[in-house]
Amino acid sequence: MTSAEINKDTLPKHVAIIMDGNGRWAKKQSKIRIFGHKVGVKAVRDTVEGAAQIGLSYLTLYAFSSENWKRPKKEIDALMELLVNTIIDETKTLMENNIRLQAIGNLEDLPKKCLQNLNNTIEKTSKNSQMTLVLALSYSSKKEVAQAVKDIVKKVQNGKLNSNDINEETIQNHLFTQNIPDPELLIRTSGEQRISNFLLWQIAYSELYFTNILWPDFRRDNLFEAIVNYQKRERRFGKTSEQIEKENV
Ligand code: FPP
Repeated sequence: MTSAEINKDTLPKHVAIIMDGNGRWAKKQSKIRIFGHKVGVKAVRDTVEGAAQIGLSYLTLYAFSSENWKRPKKEIDALMELLVNTIIDETKTLMENNIRLQAIGNLEDLPKKCLQNLNNTIEKTSKNSQMTLVLALSYSSKKEVAQAVKDIVKKVQNGKLNSNDINEETIQNHLFTQNIPDPELLIRTSGEQRISNFLLWQIAYSELYFTNILWPDFRRDNLFEAIVNYQKRERRFGKTSEQIEKENV
């Protein structure tokens, strides 16, 4: 699959990816799980470059969930170190490719060093405009919605918001993703077919694409394949096929 097969006119603006299968990939090579995460960084690099190459506006990667804090300390520490090193190493590439870095999640849970480096790169790349790379870190969609509800209630109590005015947009505007359009396409690798507490609100109308490829083996061609597959689908948003056909004339 090459980028030539992608229709530039119907490119999704935002693709989100649940990167899964690093541990299984490592096990297959009789290596420790952390080795899988390390090789997973290669997949991250190639996928980010491919996404920028075809002109996606947003790419979100689920790098660490709130639930991932339950993993063995050794694995968490290694993942955090990998994250810091990758952020430091890749800042130059992000600048060269005009990519802006953003992060969603309960970032205050991250180790200080990780958060500092993350914030440095976010700040440094903030004016870049080719594509936005969003890392979901210590992210839980349920926690995100709960926090949004808390913030909204506070505004109602302070008289800043009338409860009758609360609508979908109000919720949207209180999520981590308030300035990010909803993803049109969500990809999950490794053959698992579930959402794992990722962007539950934001994927209400996303197309879902599952592939058996384990994350360390994922490359830009696999992203292109998912996008071509997405482009063959008819997105109806509750309407009928006939209505959609008329709209497209
Ligand atoms: C899922 O595989 C992967 C993760 C929890 C971590 C993803 C992290 C990286 C690819 C490296 C760093 C990322 C960035 C953005 C620099 P798993 O461990 O759940 O695999 P398994 O399901 O086979 O056990």
